[in-house]
Amino acid sequence: MATAFIPPDYFRRYSVADIFGSGQECEVDLGCGDGGFLLAVAHQHPERLYIGVERLLGRLRKVCSRAEAQGLENVRGVRAESRYFLEWMLQAESVRRLHYLFPDPWPKERHHKKRFVQEDTVPVLYRVLAPEGELLFRTDHEEYYSWVCEIVGGSPLFRREEWTDLENYPATDFQRQWEAQGKTIYSARFVRNS
Ligand SMILES: C[S@@+](CC[C@H](N)C(=O)[O-])C[C@H]1O[C@@H](n2cnc3c(N)ncnc32)[C@H](O)[C@@H]1O
Repeated sequence: MATAFIPPDYFRRYSVADIFGSGQECEVDLGCGDGGFLLAVAHQHPERLYIGVERLLGRLRKVCSRAEAQGLENVRGVRAESRYFLEWMLQAESVRRLHYLFPDPWPKERHHKKRFVQEDTVPVLYRVLAPEGELLFRTDHEEYYSWVCEIVGGSPLFRREEWTDLENYPATDFQRQWEAQGKTIYSARFVRNS
């Protein structure tokens, strides 16, 4: 089983079936890190398809080999930059859920331009999500939380809704670290308007 998806052509967009062999919709874990969340959620929902996107090769290799060792056939790992992957490598309306969990908050003001969520990221998220698809966001960083809520929640393309089943949502590797340090975790669920 080949868990790593190595795009044969970087200048075209891929369908879910191109990546998994079948299926119409998938979920994407942006910046999946060591994959603790990705593998847990893939076990929880074997009927769903999950792509982990990660730019660090060592982390992605670890995720793919763990997925293979655990016999997870519903996981693919892609070494790519998150925005490029969503904007240029996936077909429109092919994602049911985007998981954006404990991302780098780039706290210094001069680094804010490096943040993944910017005004011009919102149409990229909208394009790739299916109608009524979701962006699920969690962070320990209060200011970045407000930033994302203002930009995504303030856009007419999305609406913020209550996240009711959070207790069933697997913890991420970074989340465990922050919780062990007693940090507050902020969570938001945004739904794409049809
Ligand atoms: C703080 S870690 C969080 C990892 C994981 N989501 C968790 O909660 O345990 C952020 C991860 O996102 C990856 N990353 C950061 N920016 C990225 C980007 N633009 N594209 C892809 N991966 C990125 C980093 O390499 C790192 O593994």
